[in-house]
Amino acid sequence: MTAEAGAYRRTYTQCTEDPEKFWLEAATAVDWITPPTVALDNSAAPVYRWFPGAELNTCYNAVDRHVLAGRGDQTAVIYDSAMTGMKDRFTYAELLHEVSTFAGVLRDQGVTAGDRVIIYLPMIPQAIFAMLACARIGAVHSVVFGGFAANELAVRIDDAKPTVLVTASGGLEPGRTVEYLPLVAEALELSHGSIHTVIVKERRNVPGTIKHHDGVNGVAWLDWDDAVERTTPADCVPVLATDPLYVLYTSGTTGNPKGIVRDNGGHAVALTWSMHNIYNIKPGEVMWAASDVGWVVGHSYIVYAPLFAGATTVIYEGKPVGTPDAGAFWRIVDNYKVRALFTAPTALRAIRRVDPGLTERARYDLSSMHTLFMAGERLDTETLEWASEGLGIPVVDHWWQTETGWPITANPRGIETLPIKPGSSTVPVPGYQVEIVDSKGRHVTQGEEGNIVIKLPMPPGTLAGLWGRPEGYQKAYLDAFPGYYATGDSGYLDEDGYVFVMGRTDDVINVAGHRLSTGQLEEALAQHPNVAECAVIGVKDELKGQRASGFVTLKAGVDRPHEVICGELVALVREKVGPVAAFRDVLILERLPKTRSGKILRRTMRQIVDGEDFVVPPTIEDVTVLEDLTVALMVHPEPMIPAP
Ligand code: COA
Ligand code: AMP
Repeated sequence: MTAEAGAYRRTYTQCTEDPEKFWLEAATAVDWITPPTVALDNSAAPVYRWFPGAELNTCYNAVDRHVLAGRGDQTAVIYDSAMTGMKDRFTYAELLHEVSTFAGVLRDQGVTAGDRVIIYLPMIPQAIFAMLACARIGAVHSVVFGGFAANELAVRIDDAKPTVLVTASGGLEPGRTVEYLPLVAEALELSHGSIHTVIVKERRNVPGTIKHHDGVNGVAWLDWDDAVERTTPADCVPVLATDPLYVLYTSGTTGNPKGIVRDNGGHAVALTWSMHNIYNIKPGEVMWAASDVGWVVGHSYIVYAPLFAGATTVIYEGKPVGTPDAGAFWRIVDNYKVRALFTAPTALRAIRRVDPGLTERARYDLSSMHTLFMAGERLDTETLEWASEGLGIPVVDHWWQTETGWPITANPRGIETLPIKPGSSTVPVPGYQVEIVDSKGRHVTQGEEGNIVIKLPMPPGTLAGLWGRPEGYQKAYLDAFPGYYATGDSGYLDEDGYVFVMGRTDDVINVAGHRLSTGQLEEALAQHPNVAECAVIGVKDELKGQRASGFVTLKAGVDRPHEVICGELVALVREKVGPVAAFRDVLILERLPKTRSGKILRRTMRQIVDGEDFVVPPTIEDVTVLEDLTVALMVHPEPMIPAP
């Protein structure tokens, strides 16, 4: 490790002063078919592209080149399922075989460069094979998290217009099996017909038959293993650095998810650079991101970055607690000699709740673990202190978004070990110029909270745009503060340039490290025939950081029992959005607090529910509604509905 004092500041300055030189140099760690001669293309500013004209193949960089360099026998992927007890390992040579044959299957189904493929898979190695197989033939994958309902899958199918969908017979959640095939069949019914083939990995532990589905509505359903048996491996297809590698949908302020587009070249350069400079991981070392391939952390640090770097990655099917106990994470670290573990604060809080004294850790040898990286939500000081004291290693908070694909701020462990300040996700990563502005775009004074913005251009690896909606990208991120990318987060900078991210400025909420849109939940509630109006807000939750709380008013004349309606509303959100929304709280009110122009006062409602001080907005239509709300909450301090 370069622990030299001042190294971070020097690297950051070099990158800011001469980004061309900095990123072209970083690009030499990637294998190109046509190497870049220019780093930044600013011809369409404020939309920037990286490495114009250069060509590469992402899968080649993640797999083939390590085999060609003589490291075919090194473990690339470790699979550990706490749900089934299954364990497996794939060397780089085996990974190459799995990926190139599945790429052959996709090719046989007519998938060519630029075509979209939806991947709806649980945490099994086939998720990694399928993603890399798409990259191999230049196809664009779009992974959908397994906890979303059929309706959400259908929305993504209609937006991305894929021709092929890859799935499995099912996933395993504690105490229940999630059967994917009926969900996929329903999503195909709900969507508008772009998919002609569904490929299904049949899992031994989750039976599911494709027979009932094959041929329905003209869609062919193939068995993964049969298809692999019949195919021949496919080679890597050269793509432009600026061609899309994947689309990953994330929640915005509206009910419709946004398709974040990642390119091939900038992504490979940034992620490769991050492995050494931020995570301090070298070839052959083990990195474990305890996330899900359906989220950006899974894309970047379960799949691509560790493999670009020739390291070993772990794909874990299980939870931090209850599968079978609160030592689950420590078992993985011990069994596979994990050097860097990456997880979300909510997972640590779940462990602390069950095992506050960290007694489980004594059963395992954790000496391989050098750093615990945290992201996904704000790392509260209590959890930070509990984990650093209990584990005796640095617990490093870092901040990023689906849009950026890699950290905006971090403690760059491979450059310099910077002091940890509780509450701060440390300092801007080279390439990210982080500033704080007020609602009019004026810089605030140091220490004052405001909108966190990033000066354009952002570094390689960050979003190339929104799928199919170039104007949507501009509107959602670039228009609010000209010359800057609006992160949607608020926070402040301290005297040492440390960034403190405090929360969202929009209607996005973060439930157990999962990003959700309150608009999406409101759309589901509004579909109930008894509901007149509704508002969903994110309220504080001890375990999950935030949880969604719904407030509804009923149509005139509805006199059904409230508890029945509330039960139906909880079931409706689960059906329309999915179990991941973890929606349990709903309260029926006489009226919702609004401004005179009819805008629901969600922020004030959240402050009341969280017991914070609040200022009565001068534009309020009728102040007594706030009093009614306070009384209603006193009557229902915990408006919890049990899970259906
Ligand atoms: N497929 C189907 N259902 C899923 C799912 C999946 N892939 N993932 C979660 N769910 C379900 C859960 O089973 C649960 O269902 P239930 O209502 O029937 O109990 C529901 O969605 C809510 O899940 P979750 O909020 O995750 O709660 P949990 O009690 O299962 O687990 C934690 C709580 C804290 C252990 C878990 O949320 C966690 O590990 N979070 C970390 C998230 C993370 O890593 N994010 C990435 C950022 S780094
Ligand atoms: P996602 O796109 O799902 O990764 O969610 C991104 C959002 O999660 C950010 O905009 C933040 O609101 C929040 N977030 C992620 N990491 C952190 C962190 N380290 N500290 C505070 N908030 C975070």
